[in-house]
Amino acid sequence: MARVALVTGGTRGIGAAISIALQKAGRLVIASYAGNTEAAQAFQKETGIETMKFDAGNFDECVAAVNDIATRHGPIEILVNNAGITRDAVMGKMTRDMWDAVIDTNLGSCFNLCKATFDGMKGRKFGRIVNIGSINGQAGQYGQVNYAAAKSGIHGFTKALAQEGARNGITVNAIAPGYVDTEMVRAVPADVLEKIVARIPRGRLGTAEDIARGVVFLTSDEADFITGSTLSINGGQHMY
Ligand code: CAA
Repeated sequence: MARVALVTGGTRGIGAAISIALQKAGRLVIASYAGNTEAAQAFQKETGIETMKFDAGNFDECVAAVNDIATRHGPIEILVNNAGITRDAVMGKMTRDMWDAVIDTNLGSCFNLCKATFDGMKGRKFGRIVNIGSINGQAGQYGQVNYAAAKSGIHGFTKALAQEGARNGITVNAIAPGYVDTEMVRAVPADVLEKIVARIPRGRLGTAEDIARGVVFLTSDEADFITGSTLSINGGQHMY
């Protein structure tokens, strides 16, 4: 039986590449999305991957989705917490709503979905959890106190939960992507982005597939001895 994998924010950007790569690796993938139904339907049509609409930042919706998936396909054994948004602004212009939206979606979602799946993984003595952090959670970024705090939180969350899962066959790891060619990064003002790319030693933006390959590796059965780690996939940018 194929292992069941849930990828949040799995129909667009990095998440879409992760869903496709996991499917190619033989997983039964469910890709969740929050709002863009049109893109999700197109993704499902193109890939055959089941898409599911729920807000990863909402606890009750996450519990209901996890139960629904378990009833129809079997328990989730691979969880990729990828859902993420930006609401960039300097502190003077950042509102409380911008803070809450990013913390709830980017970090709260990790709690919601791990809470809904972790005990089951423990009982079955197997689980693979990958949380998508960011170089901006490692290094900070001008105009992103909300996003950097949430992504930095993901790295702490990962190390703490890894300790709880280790004796039960559950690995919990993070991937910290650098700047990847997605809609999110294309929304950065062109002059700012140009300066950022100039600081990437590989001399280019990442591709979503660069990140997806790391997820396939960390969620494989063979990656059993890797837990609590952060894989930085950023073209060398973390060295600066
Ligand atoms: N360091 C130092 N100063 C900076 C700066 C930086 N990185 N970025 C901007 N500034 C300065 C500007 O030069 C400007 O200075 P002056 O007033 O003296 O001219 C001042 O800050 C205001 O800049 P803006 O005119 O750009 O201000 P704004 O309010 O219109 O926008 C901003 C501010 C929203 C932060 C905008 O600069 C921006 O979008 N920056 C990009 C933020 C970014 O990199 N986001 C990443 C998104 S992708 C992502 O998050 C994925 C991932 O995981 C990597």
